[in-house]
Amino acid sequence: MPGIDRSITLVTGATGKLGPLIVRGLLKRGTAVRVLSRRREAARDLFGSSVEIAVGDFTDRDSLRAAVEGVSRVLLLGPISADMVENQIAVVRVAAAAGVTRIVKISGSDWTFGPDGTFSGAAHEKIEKHLLASGVPAVSLRPNGWMQVSLPSAIESIRAGQPLHAAHGNAAVSYIDARDIADVAVAQLLVPTITPGVLVLTGGEALTTRDLAGIAALTLGRPVEVTDTAPPALVAGGHVNEFELSIVQQFIRILASGRAAPVTDTVERVLGRKPRTVAAYLAEHLTAQPAKGAA
Ligand SMILES: NC(=O)c1ccc[n+]([C@@H]2O[C@H](COP(=O)([O-])OP(=O)(O)OC[C@H]3O[C@@H](n4cnc5c(N)ncnc54)[C@H](OP(=O)(O)O)[C@@H]3O)[C@@H](O)[C@H]2O)c1
Repeated sequence: MPGIDRSITLVTGATGKLGPLIVRGLLKRGTAVRVLSRRREAARDLFGSSVEIAVGDFTDRDSLRAAVEGVSRVLLLGPISADMVENQIAVVRVAAAAGVTRIVKISGSDWTFGPDGTFSGAAHEKIEKHLLASGVPAVSLRPNGWMQVSLPSAIESIRAGQPLHAAHGNAAVSYIDARDIADVAVAQLLVPTITPGVLVLTGGEALTTRDLAGIAALTLGRPVEVTDTAPPALVAGGHVNEFELSIVQQFIRILASGRAAPVTDTVERVLGRKPRTVAAYLAEHLTAQPAKGAA
């Protein structure tokens, strides 16, 4: 239809952990962004008037239809939940019906897929299959464990002078900085043409918990210990509910097998630069002053 601005990009999961980095990356590139959120005020607090807000819910199809109206591209991101397959497929369906020309999906880590994978890997696999068959050109990004999710508890322990928990033994992980995932997502949303399929994203090196302790020790100039006991949050009755606990236990089982160690060159191929490093991330957070008023 003439007059419709088809250059808007809809970002779902925009108010979560990764979403804001992607929204800000798109805005920096001059793209018009609409965010889907159930919480108008939370979206407004995060982004001010720089984005359009489509108040909606994955489970409310009418709100999804309104959210995709006039949109050319969709960044598909949502939490791990029992209904994630239906939720994300609903977004793909309304986007395809509305004539969206590209979908970039944030999928699960590559090692969570397959017969010996996890609940979330199996769910992402179903969504990816649906996406591929939808007729909309689409790329699924499979990022490895994010530094911003995997490392904060280790950073907290180090800052408190406590030992690191080697929850997955001596297996290494090629952690990725979420800012690199966002940069790749933005690039895939805005590049003139994409190669539909899957991109496996990792950091530039695979590190064990003892490697992390070594890097932290060098940064701080003091020893950092490692213990083989499980961290308190992973013990039943810790800070996670039953569903989250079972997901985390599935992750740890596979992490311990070393399947999260392989390194890909995808970040460098897409962005033309090396991935951000764990050493830089740890230095950023170990040497930062606690926020004013923080205990
Ligand atoms: N963490 C890792 O290391 C890692 C590695 C690989 C892949 N991943 C993948 O990353 C994804 C999670 O990303 P994240 O941690 O950034 O997400 P998150 O913070 O858990 O997601 C919360 C976001 O989802 C939105 N949301 C939740 N339920 C919704 C609903 N019913 N309708 C509409 N929006 C809803 C929330 O919006 P409102 O509350 O504003 O409505 C919020 O923006 C998962 O798919 C996971 O498999 C994570």
